[in-house]
Amino acid sequence: MAKQFDVVVIGAGPGGYIAAIRAAQLGLSTACIDEWKTADGKPAPGGTCTNVGCIPSKALLQSSENYDHAGHSFAEHGIHVKGLSVDVAQMLKRKDKVVKQNNDGILYLFKKNKVTFFHGRGSFAGGDASGYQVTVAGKTAETITAKHVIVATGSNPRALPGTPFDNNLILDNAGALAIPDVPKRLGVIGAGVIGLEMGSVWRRLGSEVQVLEALPTFLGAADEAVANEAAKVFKKQGLAIDLGVKISTVTSKKNVTVEYADSAGKAQTATFDRLIVAIGRVPNTDGLKAEVVGLKLDDRGFVTVDDECRTNLPNVWAIGDVVRGPMLAHKAEEEGVAVAQRIVGKYGHVDFNTVPWVIYTSPEIAWVGKTEQQLRAEGVEVKTGSFPFMANGRARALGDTTGFVKMIADAKTDRILGVHIIGPMASELISEAVVAMEFGASSEDIAMICHAHPSLSEATKEAALAVDNRTLNF
Ligand code: FAD
Ligand code: NAI
Repeated sequence: MAKQFDVVVIGAGPGGYIAAIRAAQLGLSTACIDEWKTADGKPAPGGTCTNVGCIPSKALLQSSENYDHAGHSFAEHGIHVKGLSVDVAQMLKRKDKVVKQNNDGILYLFKKNKVTFFHGRGSFAGGDASGYQVTVAGKTAETITAKHVIVATGSNPRALPGTPFDNNLILDNAGALAIPDVPKRLGVIGAGVIGLEMGSVWRRLGSEVQVLEALPTFLGAADEAVANEAAKVFKKQGLAIDLGVKISTVTSKKNVTVEYADSAGKAQTATFDRLIVAIGRVPNTDGLKAEVVGLKLDDRGFVTVDDECRTNLPNVWAIGDVVRGPMLAHKAEEEGVAVAQRIVGKYGHVDFNTVPWVIYTSPEIAWVGKTEQQLRAEGVEVKTGSFPFMANGRARALGDTTGFVKMIADAKTDRILGVHIIGPMASELISEAVVAMEFGASSEDIAMICHAHPSLSEATKEAALAVDNRTLNF
């Protein structure tokens, strides 16, 4: 007889594996199916995030930043390094080790929480509200049944039309994380999150990097003040970013040639040793056999869901990159937990207004809430306050004084509507702003709270004071 579960989760990325763990914690018999495998065919749960996304990219960002510090800022501390060199193979090996620790960690968590893991591809085989059949095609094929199915199949990189990835010369995110030696000239198409993070890694390791971006504005999703500062800093770091380009052809033989029109419409040709294409991602429903049960996808291929991640089918849910909303690991996780809660009739909380964004460049960029430009366009009256890290004692001690914290509050109520940071550890600092906004705090609340000294978080307090024109240290 087919194995029966209360819940089957298809996909063990951050959305799926967290949903499975929470469902099991809530007492539901839970299975999770994932097809990702290591080079030797072993299970590698964790999805894009663990295998070719968040985790390995941050491992390489750290390694390349260490190299950059050793080469450029240690001397100021009186530390002299002779014969500094990069061993890319070792860097990649360390990154792979970090990935494996995370894969193993998830398998351990499944065991601990009594989630049954199936390694293989999951697809719908039939069913209705009373129960669904899901086939797992792994080493062998079997069909399992469940009352509830959570689809968490994630996303895939989008290729340029007519230019498939070969992951040798034309690289997607997986290829960008496994370049075996430092390319002399690296091209990047797309100045989005991946383009900037991966461009930074290879720039720090010595590549000449040129980023070609279709839009005329840089980092359009970020607050303009942050985007302007970032553009200045990245230029200084040697990242050449060309905006408003139109790619016409990409050809590859021994290297890659990109023909494009620049922002003035002039034809240009650039030749690179390798090219990263990072122009966004598409939802992944390949092989899910959505049509067998009539699971509805929208015209871009996303599984259609309501605000609570319910699909058009009773007891079938979908979360993470495969549904609307930002393609972020923490958004996927929040949706996973919320769905598990909803299945047992508990409240599931996801607040899209307080999902933080982080770009792990150096300096880091992080924000939560709306930008000043969005708010003004909506006719909201705002007051803003900024505080530069230059005036923060901890940042000076760190030797990392680029950037600032900017806080935006409602002009009448003082409620915080957005916090935008560019600077050291912005990824950590943003959490205070997320908590504050989630609790409906005012800028005055932050200004009145005692922050440890010396700490980078004092810049957030000072930005809050600046909203009321009363900074103390600037
Ligand atoms: P995924 O992580 O894509 O997982 C889906 C899983 O489902 C995969 O393992 C896949 O193999 C499996 N699967 C698919 N179909 C089937 C099937 N039919 N049967 C069985 N298994 C199946 N986000 C952040 O928040 N912070 C970051 O720093 C960050 N960095 C990133 C860096 C890069 C280079 C990239 C590419 C992405 C990054 N992201 C980051 C985005 C993040 O990785 C995704 O938002 C997140 O992984 C989405 O989680 P998910 O669970 O929806 O899907
Ligand atoms: P992105 O959406 O961040 O950026 C893609 C960029 O490519 C955009 O600026 C877009 O205008 C540009 N573009 C699109 N078509 C183009 C073309 N034909 N020619 C030139 N430029 C073109 O997507 P990206 O960088 O691929 O990342 C995908 C997603 O992965 C992100 O949106 C994010 O959700 C997630 N991610 C998150 C990270 C984080 O949280 N730190 C890190 C990396 C990825």
